[in-house]
Amino acid sequence: MKTLVYFASGPIREEYKELYFDRIYLIDNCFKYGNRYPKQIFKIDNITCVGMDCLESIAFLKKENVQIDCFVSLNEGLYEGGGSYAINSDMFLGYAMPLFKEQYIHIMNKNYYHNMYHVSMDLPYDIEEIKEDDYRYLSPFIFSKNNYHRGHAKVFQMRKLAMIKTQIIINPHLKLQIIHDSIWNYYEELDALIISFSDQGQRDFFDKIPKVINLLRTNIDEIFEFCQNNKVRRIGFTPFGRGKYISFLEKLKNLKNEYPKEILLFHLNKNDYKEIKKYAGNSTYT
Ligand SMILES: C[S@@+](CC[C@H](N)C(=O)[O-])C[C@H]1O[C@@H](n2cnc3c(N)ncnc32)[C@H](O)[C@@H]1O
Repeated sequence: MKTLVYFASGPIREEYKELYFDRIYLIDNCFKYGNRYPKQIFKIDNITCVGMDCLESIAFLKKENVQIDCFVSLNEGLYEGGGSYAINSDMFLGYAMPLFKEQYIHIMNKNYYHNMYHVSMDLPYDIEEIKEDDYRYLSPFIFSKNNYHRGHAKVFQMRKLAMIKTQIIINPHLKLQIIHDSIWNYYEELDALIISFSDQGQRDFFDKIPKVINLLRTNIDEIFEFCQNNKVRRIGFTPFGRGKYISFLEKLKNLKNEYPKEILLFHLNKNDYKEIKKYAGNSTYT
């Protein structure tokens, strides 16, 4: 079963009917407005149009058992209307990552973001650019007609990296690990997810998800107190504190609480948690 999902797709186009996929999902707010479309979610042959915000659509796609072979995001209207956050941001891709197949195709234009949005494509994947003469190549112009894509919209073969877990010995009562993967791939295994996303246009989307605590609205001491009071065993963090972790490590070293028992530090970008790895020095193993 080959599945393509185009996030912030705009309306359906005739060309999509010729694409060689079993299922195509077009996700766009435009499908939910007015009388133009019959329903918020409707199907034309193998193409499903989903009138939802892209972040909200992830839960819907999970229910549909979607595993993505081809991820498309080109021009989400960040400058000229419609878009509020970057679909290729770490924030969005990390959240969508549980849907990605181990190997998938990613079509995007990094240039579109002009360094105004945090789009790194520094992800736990090996990334190979696919050129036009390759059988895997799909022209970005099928999906987005703007001229500024010329020379900038790329097609990437993504391959999930073997997961790197680094264990850090810091406190005999506490297991501390750094995991190079999306926190959302571990949602079920965690008792609390401590995220630290600045508002990039997603508003309070993540705050409404069960088990999620936004560190920007609280602090580390309160988190530990919450764990102790509620017997929270295993918590995960996304990178926080602008890369400064010394005081966090000092707290962990001196922590005598019974809970949490385990702290998992998740990251997407290679160089995150540098300070922790350096601090722990020889007491790490992978
Ligand atoms: C400028 S249009 C471009 C459409 C298409 N990507 C293209 O390049 O032809 C931007 C579209 O993105 C949609 N959009 C932007 N952010 C979205 C989001 N977070 N969720 C759903 N739709 C979004 C808007 O509704 C709009 O239809």
